[in-house]
Amino acid sequence: MPEADAPTKNDKKSDKEFYVDVPQESRSFFLKGSNAHDWGMNNRLARIFNPQSGKTVMLAFDHGYFQGPTTGLERVDITILPLCPYADALMLTRGILRSVIPPAFTNAVVMRASGGPSILKELSNEQIACSMEDAVRMNVSAVAVQVFIGGEFETQSVANMTRLVDQGNRHGIPVLAVTAVGKDMARDAKYMRLASRICAELGAAFVKTYYVPEGFETVTASCPVPIVIAGGKKLPELEALRMARDAVAQGAAGVDMGRNIFQAEAPVAMIQAVRKVVHENMSPEHAFDFYQSAKKQPRKR
Ligand code: 5RP
Repeated sequence: MPEADAPTKNDKKSDKEFYVDVPQESRSFFLKGSNAHDWGMNNRLARIFNPQSGKTVMLAFDHGYFQGPTTGLERVDITILPLCPYADALMLTRGILRSVIPPAFTNAVVMRASGGPSILKELSNEQIACSMEDAVRMNVSAVAVQVFIGGEFETQSVANMTRLVDQGNRHGIPVLAVTAVGKDMARDAKYMRLASRICAELGAAFVKTYYVPEGFETVTASCPVPIVIAGGKKLPELEALRMARDAVAQGAAGVDMGRNIFQAEAPVAMIQAVRKVVHENMSPEHAFDFYQSAKKQPRKR
């Protein structure tokens, strides 16, 4: 025993405090279905989802991986960079991450790891488009993979996901399964339940689906891991805020929104308004008032 720690005859009370009467707390992780992950994976999830609110506002701008420079994403450096500080996580491709996002940016990154076909071809024919080694090198918080339940290449896309889950588990990288609804499929709760449940059963750490107005709470209830919603096609701003509120009220753990933010009339004001709904429980109407006044503020370049 080192000299300083050795008890002496005259010692009445040690200056050390072991709190012997206080049992160590064993806390559960704040995200549903996520207790059994390793520390590194949960640490990454806690960078995507805010541990205080339990929710996330992800900004999706990975559309170029199959659509090219779609409206609002012609110049990511000009239109998207000003939004990044307001996003809990950026959802993007490794090409944009390396070419446009400054490495000093420290919010979470969810990196698209599947791809292949363009809008000119069969979209479900995707393959894994990024190695886990490269994802680790870029210090991402999760990888995202498209899953086409009911699509022509359904099995291949599910296999892309399960391979990424195996590789991600090795490195502590969570996998976000993005459920892609084919053009001819019904976008309803029955489909979303089927798709999201398959993704969770096969190992996705969290799942992205579209919001459906009828029965969305059954989608979140039957999926054992967190669900975030895609924004979908551009809506009027108040409607988009209402959709975010409805989704969160019905069990979503946040949004992964693209066009409804970057195609808004005032994207910086819009992402802040979405945050108010998702993280602060603000009503969509109050968040819309906030948006209207924030959009009048002069923007710094
Ligand atoms: C592509 C994606 C996109 O990231 C996402 O769905 C697009 O977001 P939004 O619908 O809000 O524009 O996963 O399939």
